[in-house]
Parts: sequence; structure tokens; C-alpha cells
Amino acid sequence: DDKVTFYEAVGGEETFTRLVRRFYEGVATDPVLRPMYPEEDLGPAEERLRLFLVQYWGGPRTYSERRGHPRLRMRHFPFRIGGEERDRWLAHMRAAIDDLALPPEAERMMWDYMVHAAHSMVNVPEET
Ligand code: HEM
Repeated sequence: DDKVTFYEAVGGEETFTRLVRRFYEGVATDPVLRPMYPEEDLGPAEERLRLFLVQYWGGPRTYSERRGHPRLRMRHFPFRIGGEERDRWLAHMRAAIDDLALPPEAERMMWDYMVHAAHSMVNVPEET
């Protein structure tokens, strides 16, 4: 099977490393999101998000080797994620995706996925 995965098409590991690095630069300065992260060092969280996204888009399955089934909604239950948290998460992700300067179609696919995933992670009743 010589189908090129989305992961490969957008530049492989390097692209996802840049994406999550930029994303966590935003989280690090966010007064609402930063306190939600249990660890002082954001590095391990950055690594987990990177490995998850790499796997999701067709790259190596290291995430599941290390963490098992993603079950992301369940793993986010300890954190209060409402509309504001979701929108801040998405704003940092938007900036990180913009920085990649991907071809429009790839950019749109990645963004649509992030929007959908972030909405599905909300676990408190929506205020708005
Ligand atoms: C973990 C917040 C959405 C993927 C975490 C953690 C926090 C958090 C505080 C714990 C840090 C850690 O120890 O890894 C949020 C907030 C979101 C959000 C506020 C707003 C909607 C998402 C979305 C995805 C995602 C949309 C996927 C596209 C992950 C992954 C982990 C994680 C893969 C690590 C899970 C593990 O293996 O333990 N998130 N998250 N998150 N998040 Fe999110």
C-alpha cells in the first residue's frame, strides 16, 4: 500500500513538532488554561499531544504504545472544560496551524478536526 498519509503529506514529525510547540507557547501564557495543567513543566503534555496527533493523522502509533487507547473525552473529565476553555484552546491551535503555512486544503482539514474535537471535549453545560 503506497498511499501517502496525511501525516506524511504535511511534512511528518517535524510539522507536528512545530505545531504543538507553538500551541504550548500560547498555553504557557494563557491565564485560564495554564493553571489547568497539573505539571509545572508543560513538556510532557506537549509530547503527549504531539504523539496523539501524529498517530491520529496516520504516523507512528507511539501514543497508544505508551498511553493505551486515547479515550480523550474520559481523560479530560478531571478538567473543567466549558465554552471559554474550548475557545482559548482553539485560538492557540489556530495560531499554531497558521504558523505552519500548509496548503489550504490540508490546513482546512486539520482545523476542521480540531474544531470538532475541541467541541466534543466540553464537559460542563454551555454558558452560551
Ligand atoms: C491532556 C486540556 C482539548 C488532546 C490534557 C490536559 C489538559 C488538557 C489540562 C492534561 C495535561 C497532560 O497531562 O497531558 C484541554 C482543554 C481543551 C482540550 C482545556 C479544550 C477543549 C483537547 C483536544 C485534543 C486534546 C481537542 C485532541 C485533538 C489531549 C491529549 C492529552 C490531553 C492527547 C494527553 C492525554 C493522555 O495521554 O493522558 N488536555 N484539552 N485535548 N489533551 Fe487536552
